[in-house]
Amino acid sequence: MSTNEKQLAGEAALRYVEDGAIVGVGTGSTVAYFIDALAGIKDRIQGAVSSSEQSTARMKQHGIEVFDLNAVGPIGIYIDGADECDPHKRLTKGGGAALTREKICAAAAQKFVCIIDSSKRVDVLGRFPLPIEVIPMARSLVSREIVKLGGQPVWRDGVTTDNGNWIIDVHGWRITDPAGLERQLNQLAGVVTVGLFAQRPADVVLVGDKEI
Ligand code: 5RP
Repeated sequence: MSTNEKQLAGEAALRYVEDGAIVGVGTGSTVAYFIDALAGIKDRIQGAVSSSEQSTARMKQHGIEVFDLNAVGPIGIYIDGADECDPHKRLTKGGGAALTREKICAAAAQKFVCIIDSSKRVDVLGRFPLPIEVIPMARSLVSREIVKLGGQPVWRDGVTTDNGNWIIDVHGWRITDPAGLERQLNQLAGVVTVGLFAQRPADVVLVGDKEI
């Protein structure tokens, strides 16, 4: 892992931001570099839509206007990090527990630019435990279903998402069919969001300042 690569990626993502844009903004340490860079051109954009309270706070500190997604409709560009990225630009996300709003922003965006350092690149997703946001009362139910599917669920005890829900991190999966698993897990009662971004992968991936 390289902090420098995270910073390079965060700053390089500015290339994709057009004048007058409302920019979708993800969450995490790489995105924090992007937000700091975005502050430097804040007078050239209308503002941002945020994927978390954490990113909202950072943007507001910089004087970047943050809009409700419902007030702006489709967004041209969404910039976010990832926990893993495979060669098809399919991602694991949710290490920062912001996966639900991140998935909403990605779905609303015409272009999703993912910013990572080289440690996040994998051939097959699954090395990083897969985060799943669940309605609290469904934690045990969903965990039992995951065990039936061969995963090892671990409750991220003490973490409550911005939406008032809980996170289960699933260890032990080698995810050879990310879109299929995403669909399957989405069917489980009590699952809010699966941290697989395979049905809607990234459009562009920046590793440091290099597009792959
Ligand atoms: C938050 C995320 C982040 O994008 C992911 O955890 C990567 O974070 P970082 O840039 O700090 O390595 O999905 O829910």
